[in-house]
Amino acid sequence: MTSLHGDFATETEKPTEVSEAKDVFPVKGVDHLRFLVGNARQAAHFYSTAFGMKCVAYRGPEQGFRDHAEYVLVSGGAKFVLTGMVHAGAPGADHVTRHGDGISDIALQVPDVDAAYQHALEAGARGVTEPYDLKDEHGTVRLAAIASYGDTVHTLIDRSGYDGPFLPGFVARDPIVAVRPKRFFQAIDHVVGNVELGKMDEWVEFYRRVMGFTNMAEFIGDDIATDYSALMSKVVADGTRKVKFPLNEPAVSARKSQIDEYLEFYGGPGAQHVALATNDILTTVDAMRGAGVEFLNTPDSYYDDPELRARIGQVRVPIEELKKRKILVDRDEDGYLLQIFTAPVQDRPTVFFELIERHGSLGFGKGNFKALFEAIEREQERRGNL
Ligand SMILES: [Fe+2]
Repeated sequence: MTSLHGDFATETEKPTEVSEAKDVFPVKGVDHLRFLVGNARQAAHFYSTAFGMKCVAYRGPEQGFRDHAEYVLVSGGAKFVLTGMVHAGAPGADHVTRHGDGISDIALQVPDVDAAYQHALEAGARGVTEPYDLKDEHGTVRLAAIASYGDTVHTLIDRSGYDGPFLPGFVARDPIVAVRPKRFFQAIDHVVGNVELGKMDEWVEFYRRVMGFTNMAEFIGDDIATDYSALMSKVVADGTRKVKFPLNEPAVSARKSQIDEYLEFYGGPGAQHVALATNDILTTVDAMRGAGVEFLNTPDSYYDDPELRARIGQVRVPIEELKKRKILVDRDEDGYLLQIFTAPVQDRPTVFFELIERHGSLGFGKGNFKALFEAIEREQERRGNL
C-alpha cells in the first residue's frame, strides 16, 4: 500500500531551547497544496473550468499506484495536488470521512530537507515522515513531513535535482479543458489555519520556534474580534514574506463565530482559506462568476459609506466597478489591496478561497471586518431590525 505521508509517527521529547540565529529554517516558498477529496477526477475538472487551472501531471493505478488517483493543477506558481482514494482502505480515506474535502498538506520547498527536519524535531515538532528519496528517470526528490495543526502536515521538499512533470511516479498529461489565454491567478498569497479557542498563540509560537517565522504586524485582537469579526487572528511569515500563514481562533462574541462553524463541520482544526494572488481581480472575478463560482455578497452600503471612500482614497479602478462585483478594498500605510472571498467550495461550510490584488499593502484586509459589519448593520437598521 502506498502511503501519503509515511506510516509512522515519531513522538519527540518536550521542546528544547532553540537559538535565535537567523534563518534556522530557510524556505523557498510553498511548493504545493494537497487536497484530499472524495472524487479527484471531478475536482480536477472543477479547478480547470472554474479556477482556470491547467492539469499538467497525473499518477494513479495506470502507473502502478493502486490506492490513489492524483491530479496536479497549476496556475503560474500556484500548484494544487488533488488526491482521490480509489478504494475504501486507501491511506487518506479516513481523512475525507472525517473532514470532507480538505487540505491535508501545505508543502514547503526547502534547500536542505534533512537539516529542516532535524531542526523541526529538535524544536518540538512531531515527525510524520523521516527524510527519504523518490527517484525516477527525471532525477531525485528528497522529502520529509512534519505535523501542524489538526491533521494538516507540512511536507518538506527539495526538488533541485529533479526535472520531471511533478514528483517521481507522476506522468505529464494534457489539460482537461482548453487552456485559457490568460490565467486567473499567479501564486498562492497566503494559507489560513483555523485552530481551537485559546490555541492561536500556541501555533504562532510553533511557527516561531520550528520555522523561525515572525509575527507580521497585522492582527485582529479583542477590540475588533468582539464587536465585528467573531475571530482573533495573527499572522506569521518567513523572513522573505513569501510564506504567510494567518492563524485564526474563534472569539467569544454575540454572533456564532464563523471559526466555530468551521471547526464543527471540518471536525477540528484545518486550513480555512487559500488566498490566490491575481494582477487583474476584475477580469478574474468575472471569469470565475461566469464559470459558476459563488462569491460572498457585500451590501451596497459598504461602497456608499463616505468614511470608506475617504479611507481608501484613489484605487486603480472606479469604485463603481468594485461595487458591481462586490470586491472589497483595504488600505494601510504601505498601499492598498483589493480582495473578495468565495463561498465554501464543497458541501461542508469549510474550505473557501480568496482572490487578492495587492498594490503595496502587505495586509490581509483587517479594515474590512469593521467596514463590512458596519455596512451590514446599516442595512439592518434600514429594515428596522437593529
Ligand atoms: Fe485571507
